[in-house]
Amino acid sequence: MNRWPDTRLLDVFGIEVPIIQAPMAGSTGSAMAIAVSNAGGLGSLPCATLGLEQIRSELEAFRQASTGPLNVNFFCHQPPQPDPARDAAWKQALKPYYEELGADFDAPTPVSNRAPFDDATCQLVEQFKPAVVSFHFGLPDADLLERVKATGARVLSSATTVDEAVWLEQHGCDAIIAMGYEAGGHRGMFLSNDLNTQVGTMALVPQIVDAVKVPVIAAGGIGDHRGIVAALALGASAVQLGTAYLLCPEAKVSTAHRQALQNAKDSDTAVTNLFTGRPARGINTRIMRELGPMSVLVPHFPLAGGALMPLRAISEPTGSSDFSNLWSGQAARLGQALPAGELTRSLAQKALAQLLR
Ligand SMILES: Cc1cc2nc3c(=O)[nH]c(=O)nc-3n(C[C@H](O)[C@H](O)[C@H](O)COP(=O)(O)O)c2cc1C
Repeated sequence: MNRWPDTRLLDVFGIEVPIIQAPMAGSTGSAMAIAVSNAGGLGSLPCATLGLEQIRSELEAFRQASTGPLNVNFFCHQPPQPDPARDAAWKQALKPYYEELGADFDAPTPVSNRAPFDDATCQLVEQFKPAVVSFHFGLPDADLLERVKATGARVLSSATTVDEAVWLEQHGCDAIIAMGYEAGGHRGMFLSNDLNTQVGTMALVPQIVDAVKVPVIAAGGIGDHRGIVAALALGASAVQLGTAYLLCPEAKVSTAHRQALQNAKDSDTAVTNLFTGRPARGINTRIMRELGPMSVLVPHFPLAGGALMPLRAISEPTGSSDFSNLWSGQAARLGQALPAGELTRSLAQKALAQLLR
């Protein structure tokens, strides 16, 4: 018999423990998802930074190594309109750094892209039929969403306010990820651009639980079993942990990022739009300190990163993170460098022990 207090999502997803390893584009792949799903949690495969063939091979790798359920994750932003004046103003703001590093300021700016969910990626979902498909930044167009739902997949998306949660429920989400302000990575916000609307996990989860009928998944600042117990007490049916999994050996993070996560204090992160054009939480780096974490100059998502690429190409090989994004939530300090399967089992065991005390 399952001893978790709320088994709604366990039954729906076919998992044994109510822990979702967060999809983290660029930082996790099939190896992490396999380990978590084989440990009874829900592993996730982030696809926002992958090409079609990479997604296909990651899905095949998962299928070969796990019979467990998989959450396949996509961004669903509107692609940006070209805005050369904005691109030029942003690059100009970076000119002193180009000069300091000896980067070629006049060379064409590389394009930094994160592709939204579209017909081609939907075809892969139709072919592989993952148990769960999750989105960030709202939901895709109704026809694409209908196709996803027709595969039998359960659909999730992140809400950063109660209004977003209600919108997602009304538009067909089967469960809502309540993403508190503590969370690492991009804010999933999609009804407002105003950071003042963003709510911490402790306040957000119970208010979303009260506002929707579908199960709620708590995310943001949950770093160990105590956070899991607290989230379940607030009414969440499951939790989604991102930063806590970044220290696992399966995470694809640079040595500099790993060291920064290991040393990060609670107060060392900020929400910044410098790296992509959308607000995301990461550990403070030189460019965030010097330009301020939020800039009105940045090109629209995801283009802001392009002008930083030449600076990163020069600085990163020297071990510097001056111009790099080090995504992290506020609870990095709670992380444990365990293999992802072991971490999932240990978090579940300790949370359950505390719940049943
Ligand atoms: C490195 C990193 C990358 C992320 N990338 C994604 C992503 O591709 N898709 C997504 O839905 N959420 C993404 N997120 C947000 C996570 O899904 C999750 O909501 C968040 O990590 C929870 O907060 P925590 O980091 O405090 O655990 C990312 C988070 C991090 C830390």
